[in-house]
Amino acid sequence: MNDIELFHTGLESPKGVWWKPAHKAEKVWFGIAFAWCMILFAMMPLWHLKGQQNPSGIRGRVDPGRFMARTQEFIAAYQVGEENGYPVVEPPAGADVYMIAMMWRWMPVLRLREGVSYTLHLSALDVNHGFSLIQVNGNAQNVNFQIVPGYDYGLRIVPTKTGEYRVICNEFCGINHHAMVGKIVVLDATAPAMPFLKDSTATAAAAPAADSAKGGAR
Ligand code: CUA
Repeated sequence: MNDIELFHTGLESPKGVWWKPAHKAEKVWFGIAFAWCMILFAMMPLWHLKGQQNPSGIRGRVDPGRFMARTQEFIAAYQVGEENGYPVVEPPAGADVYMIAMMWRWMPVLRLREGVSYTLHLSALDVNHGFSLIQVNGNAQNVNFQIVPGYDYGLRIVPTKTGEYRVICNEFCGINHHAMVGKIVVLDATAPAMPFLKDSTATAAAAPAADSAKGGAR
């Protein structure tokens, strides 16, 4: 027999048993796999309604330039300081809080209060980024979001643990992706506010609070 005869030509029936009736064990395995598919399929809507991991956020389209403008308005309204050239912002309770992702930074630095609710708006200026939270000297938090330019992700959040957190980009976004680290500080509700380092009178009037009732679709 020469080597060429070892190849299947399609003109002859291949050796095998696949055309014979399925063995009982094969039927059982197929049944298990099918049932599991159905369970996972049902989990999608169930998890959305009952699961603990899904954000009860609001989403809307937004022009990246406009989101940047809102972020700057937000910074101007509530800035309390500066850190390494980044504005530090402490919004009031219930405020719409803006954080923008861009190559390769997160803006601004946020100071939030434990037990206070906020709507955290996340979006990107340029490309896809990923938002994940790691507590400094602590564990990674179970927070993970795609930050997509053109979409405003409004997350209703209540910080439950004081401390300093790093915002890590977990979506590869270019040469400095690894250096894209932001910062959120969660303070005790009674901790004193940071004194204003800037002249607050110049920008305080530009508070974007007026449009907070309309949600994220702006
Ligand atoms: Cu932004 Cu990686």
